Amino acid sequence: LHASMTVDPAFRVAPVHRRTFGSFVEHMGRCVYTGIYEPDHPAADADGFRTDVAELVRELGVTTVRYPGGNFVSGYRWEDGTGPKDRRPVRRELAWHSTETNRFGLDEFAAWTRKLGIEPMMAVNLGTRGLQEAIDLLEYTNHPGGTELSDRRVSNGSPQPHGIRMWCLGNEMDGPWQIGHKTAREYGRLAAETARAMRMSDPHLELVACGSSGPEMPTFGAWEAEVLEQTYDHVDYISLHSYYEEHDGDLASFLASGAEMDAFIESVVATADAVRAKLGAKKRIQLSFDEWNVWYRMRFEAREPSTEWPVAPRVIEDRYHVADAVVFGSLLISLLRHSDRVTAASLAQLVNVIAPIMTEPGGPAWRQTTFHPFALTAANAAGTVLRVEPESPVRETARYGAVPVVDAVATHDAEAGEAAVFVVNRATDEPVTLDADLRGLRAEGVSSCLTLHDDDVYAANTLERPDRVVPRENTDVRLEGGRLRAVLPPVSWTVLKLA
Ligand code: AHR
Repeated sequence: LHASMTVDPAFRVAPVHRRTFGSFVEHMGRCVYTGIYEPDHPAADADGFRTDVAELVRELGVTTVRYPGGNFVSGYRWEDGTGPKDRRPVRRELAWHSTETNRFGLDEFAAWTRKLGIEPMMAVNLGTRGLQEAIDLLEYTNHPGGTELSDRRVSNGSPQPHGIRMWCLGNEMDGPWQIGHKTAREYGRLAAETARAMRMSDPHLELVACGSSGPEMPTFGAWEAEVLEQTYDHVDYISLHSYYEEHDGDLASFLASGAEMDAFIESVVATADAVRAKLGAKKRIQLSFDEWNVWYRMRFEAREPSTEWPVAPRVIEDRYHVADAVVFGSLLISLLRHSDRVTAASLAQLVNVIAPIMTEPGGPAWRQTTFHPFALTAANAAGTVLRVEPESPVRETARYGAVPVVDAVATHDAEAGEAAVFVVNRATDEPVTLDADLRGLRAEGVSSCLTLHDDDVYAANTLERPDRVVPRENTDVRLEGGRLRAVLPPVSWTVLKLA
């Protein structure tokens, strides 16, 4: 197979937004407890945070973290997670059928993000709660002091306000599984009024209205239109959530998931812009793709519902293989390509729960296969996103029709004199020889070319073999006279660095 493309700094999409490399920590399963927080662990610091996990989070290059849910937030009382730990209530947690000890809460989360240099992003509960609790939470979190709630934060050990700018107005409020789920009309009005009140407190907040829980929802499109009509003046973002998985052994369709993500993003952009035209509004709504990943959701939905109320159970601890990581890399390509409108994104989730980082309680932490495309994209995407239009053979897929075998995006950092090309070969059986015209970049050489590939597309990293799958230097690449030739193995994801 053969593909070609041109990478030229003239084909600008938008700046690379650092918030594209966000993630998500939910009080779900072992994401918090025995994930980022485990006071009894040998590597725990004085605050009980696992330093081995923190190191991997740093290496991953995560820029923002959304918290505390997810479905969890729709039944959560934020006050439960504040104040002296031995006085915090233990409660049943309905979204994931577990017991919440509240040993970790808002102030611990803020301290953890501060230590790691991560921007925190909070969700308010619009399921069982509403406007009053949202503005109380905001006062506790962001007001400097001198009021009841801000002084409570100070006396709880956080003298400085947490200064959280980005807030999600609820979570997946269209989902019948959501505690207190709503119609678009009900949610739109509540979100608009909550946003208005939050803005009275601080006009500089960045607010995210809930979009549909996914493009497969029966109300997808109509939900976005109605919610945005009601909230347009009061919010900055609409959220997108989508998870991808291999269905019935159909690897070719699974590998083409990025095409589905492209279509989803473009539909939300079109809907938001249609509302803009209808309202005669000036601003454009941005997209916060605040839950995305590979998730074997069908397996989760097929399980027996739990009758127990365990603390930090093992929930959706999917083990990712090579093909998962290739799809994952292609989802990052799609997000970057849409940087003109997708200006924030959160990989769901960060540790243990459908996560790039896995841990054992009391034991080690390791990188899943998906860790690598995330870390390499976050580290190498810089400057401006460039549109590349690969000329590629197409393959017919059962789920998404004809999809190009090669997908790619590039970034160009003019100041540093560097560029990066992210490219995926979705063919299941054949390598692709890629010819790229890079003359516009004036690059002198390829500083590195790393490819994630394995002859066994279902190979994974495990506790026993944590580095079974890692990206390797691809030596089948050369650059002459501004023209690059690289061989991309089947089912592979590659990052090329040029300087
Ligand atoms: O990330 C797991 C769950 O997926 C989240 O709690 C929810 O928002 C989504 O359905």
